[in-house]
Amino acid sequence: MDYELHSLTPGFGAEISGIDLTADAGGNLAADLVGVWRDAGGMLVIHDQDLSSEQHIAFSRHFGPLFGDPNEVPLQDTVSRYIHPDFPEIYRVSNQVDADGEPTGRKGAGTYWHSDVSFRDRPAQASILHGKRVPPTGGDTIFANQAAAYEALSDSMKEMLAPLQAWHDFEVAARTQYAKPVVVEDDMAGANRALHPIVRTHPESGRKSLFVNPGFTSHIDGFAGDESAAILGFLYDYCIRPEFLYRHRWREKDLVIWDNRAIMHFAVMNYTDDQPRYMERCTVIGERPV
Ligand code: SIN
Repeated sequence: MDYELHSLTPGFGAEISGIDLTADAGGNLAADLVGVWRDAGGMLVIHDQDLSSEQHIAFSRHFGPLFGDPNEVPLQDTVSRYIHPDFPEIYRVSNQVDADGEPTGRKGAGTYWHSDVSFRDRPAQASILHGKRVPPTGGDTIFANQAAAYEALSDSMKEMLAPLQAWHDFEVAARTQYAKPVVVEDDMAGANRALHPIVRTHPESGRKSLFVNPGFTSHIDGFAGDESAAILGFLYDYCIRPEFLYRHRWREKDLVIWDNRAIMHFAVMNYTDDQPRYMERCTVIGERPV
C-alpha cells in the first residue's frame, strides 16, 4: 500500500491521504486499513473519500457486522427516522430538511460525551462516519482516549475501580438530549439498558480503558445515588483532560473511524442551519465488554 500516514496527536490517532477506497472499498486495501486503525489506537482519519453509501457499507463490513445489517439488530427505534431510507446500515446526521420538511438526519446527534450504543449488551465497536457536507468552520468532533485516561490513574484508583460495574441506559440521553415526541417509548422499556464493567479490556490490544460516559451511564451498580454521582463526576471531569483529546476539524469527504471500546466522542454544535452538515455513519456491532 502506498499512502501518506501521519500521527494526529501523541498517544492515538493517524491520518491518511493518497488512497482511493472507491476502487477497492470491499477488498484488500480496506482489510489492511483495519490493521492501520488498530495500530493507531482505534482512531483513523482517511481524507478525500468520495464513497457512495454502498461503498461505505462494504468498507465498514471489514470491521465486523453492522447495526441494521440483514439478520443483525438495528439501532434503537428512536433513531429509526434518521436511518437512510435505502440503506438500513446507515444512520444519518444532518441539520437539513427535505422538500417535505422531514429531517434528512438527526440534528445535533451526539452533542454530549458518549460511546456509541453503550446501552446495549453488545455496544458499538467501530463507528465509521463519512463527512459528505461540512460547514466551513465549526461542527468539529472531539475524541477522548479512554485507554490513556485509564493508564494515567493512580494504582489505588485503578484498584478501587477494578470490580465496579455501571448501568448504561438510553433513557439518560432520551430524557435530556432528545425532544420528547420523537422518543419511542419501547426504547425506555429495557432493551436499551446494560450493565458493563467500568474498566474494560480491549479484546485485540489487551489494553484497559475507562468505560463510562455522561451521555448514557446512569449509575454505578450497588452504590447509593450520591456516592455513584461523586465517583462518576470525578471520572467525567478527569477523562476529558486536554492531554487525552483529539479535536477533528472536518474536511469534506473525510472518513473518520473510531473505536468506541476505548474512545468517547462529542459533536460540537457551533454552526447554524444555513451551513449544511450532512454525515453518514455505519456502526459496527461489538462484543460484550469484559
Ligand atoms: C455521532 O455521535 O456519531 C455524531 C458525531 C458527529 O456528528 O460529529
